[in-house]
Amino acid sequence: MSEPGSGCKIAGVGVNVPSRVLTNFDLEKMVDTSDEWIVTRTGIRERRIADADETTHGLAIPAAQEALRSAGIEARDLDLIICATATQQRYFPSTACMIGHGLGAGDAPGFDISAACSGFIYGSSIIQQYFRGGMAKNALLVASEIYSRIVNWQDRATCVLFGDAAAAVVFSASDSSEGLIATRIRSNGEYGSFLTGGAITRSGDPVAGALPTMGDGYFIEMKGNQTFKIAVKSMCDVATRILEENGMTVADVDMVIPHQANIRIISAVGKSLGLPEDKVYSNIHRYGNTSAATIPLALYEAVQEGRVKKGDVVLMVAFGGGLTWGASLMRW
Ligand code: ACO
Repeated sequence: MSEPGSGCKIAGVGVNVPSRVLTNFDLEKMVDTSDEWIVTRTGIRERRIADADETTHGLAIPAAQEALRSAGIEARDLDLIICATATQQRYFPSTACMIGHGLGAGDAPGFDISAACSGFIYGSSIIQQYFRGGMAKNALLVASEIYSRIVNWQDRATCVLFGDAAAAVVFSASDSSEGLIATRIRSNGEYGSFLTGGAITRSGDPVAGALPTMGDGYFIEMKGNQTFKIAVKSMCDVATRILEENGMTVADVDMVIPHQANIRIISAVGKSLGLPEDKVYSNIHRYGNTSAATIPLALYEAVQEGRVKKGDVVLMVAFGGGLTWGASLMRW
């Protein structure tokens, strides 16, 4: 185990996206929409959709295996497994436990966290505390989402936005200057009704014979305009605060990896922070909003493309249902 006070770095990243592609042109045949509307309003051109027999943990395992390979460690070396998901198959076993089993991680502790699209930042924050407390040498954070199961495919205002994906990160102890510098997470349930969905217990009284059925509240519902405004404000606020708290300015940041909900939100955040476009990464056009998975999926691709290099300061910033939001700052 690492000593108390130790830091952690990202030692490996992996991704797994379903092979099935759903384009805007496919959506034109399903709801009253157009490729032009979706691209102009969101930046999304296509998204991936899981097959009927795919599961959240099944999607996650290959991503986790790639992250472990890239970190050069075995699953049995893991001291902690966290899965960030809003689309878990069951309350229990947790998705993390099933991932751990699929990987052969032995008895490493595992649990899921629910912070919707901010799940990766929330997970990073928890993991940072585990390393600081000397309780982990290697930890796995997997974000796995199958939003296609909780999207109402008749609601054009939401069904065009989301996609399915899994992405995983292995954090390993590090006493060098590379790794997580800070995390900052926030929430406010006052605005919870802006963005809801995925009720897995239904209302009703089964004892009295009224068995619950899939009903109101199951599908994603979103107050798009209000969510848009608060998303921009929260992400700018938390990004500014985390930089200030760590004695940095935007000039110190080499790349921002924001949650991929809408290209207009991403551009507004970049503009408001005073960042040039090439310092704000986006791959939303190919995947849509994959909730907790967007940031590690974007990080993976940014590294593959050479847009994030050793020593770079990377700022990750997210926003999601809850409402939840947060940022993490790291040196790659
Ligand atoms: N195709 C065509 N027309 C559409 C579509 C569609 N897919 N969807 C909505 N419209 C129509 C509306 O009905 C409306 O028509 P009207 O003017 O006749 O009433 C018009 O387009 C404009 O609708 P708006 O909702 O005002 O469009 P807006 O430009 O705000 O874009 C959007 C909507 C894309 C949802 C945007 O508000 C948004 O991205 N919001 C934030 C999303 C977000 O950040 N989510 C948080 C993370 S998700 C999570 O945590 C799970």
